[in-house]
Amino acid sequence: KRLVVLVSGSGTNLQALLDAVAEHGAAAYGAEVVAVGADRTGIVGLERAERAGLPTFVCRVRDHATREEWDRALADATAAYEPDLVISAGFMKIVGKEFLARFGGRTVNTHPALLPSFPGAHGVRDALAYGAKVTGCTVHFVDDGVDTGPIIAQGVVEIRAEDDESALHERIKEVERALLVEVVGRLARDGFSIEGRKVVIP
Ligand code: GRF
Repeated sequence: KRLVVLVSGSGTNLQALLDAVAEHGAAAYGAEVVAVGADRTGIVGLERAERAGLPTFVCRVRDHATREEWDRALADATAAYEPDLVISAGFMKIVGKEFLARFGGRTVNTHPALLPSFPGAHGVRDALAYGAKVTGCTVHFVDDGVDTGPIIAQGVVEIRAEDDESALHERIKEVERALLVEVVGRLARDGFSIEGRKVVIP
């Protein structure tokens, strides 16, 4: 299966996918990354893609007259690589109608909290500020809400008394990378169906 991975930052989740494909081989893992897209330049995530010899594309909101045009450009750039699955791995933009019309039901996002708690851009900070004792990560399909799509898998991380946002996020990301690699491999190898809010992997 062909994966297009979308990133906005350090790209350690992307790297985990690249490492898994390199370690097991694309055939055994079930998928390979064919291109990496971003919403900004100058990020480590794009460097990782280039180091792996992968094509990259950048779609910046500010280069488009409207959010709709940006969304269409992102969908066109993604479509050029004919992905079976799109992986939003730390991609900090909400995709729009056009993107969802073309890739909805096969776009996977990873979020650093246990949804439906603490959606949005500050899931780690919000769980900490709330005083939660456990948090974690959620791998889910993208729908038209903010972190509201059908949940595929979750991992739990305990919050420690001495945690600050960055220490907690690092521990979440360790669990998150392993979970994303596992989930994407299973979806690619075994197939899946989405029945309402339920994701069924045979
Ligand atoms: C992940 O925790 C993701 O869930 C969050 O941002 C982080 C991205 O990390 N939204 P990286 O760019 O994959 O290193």
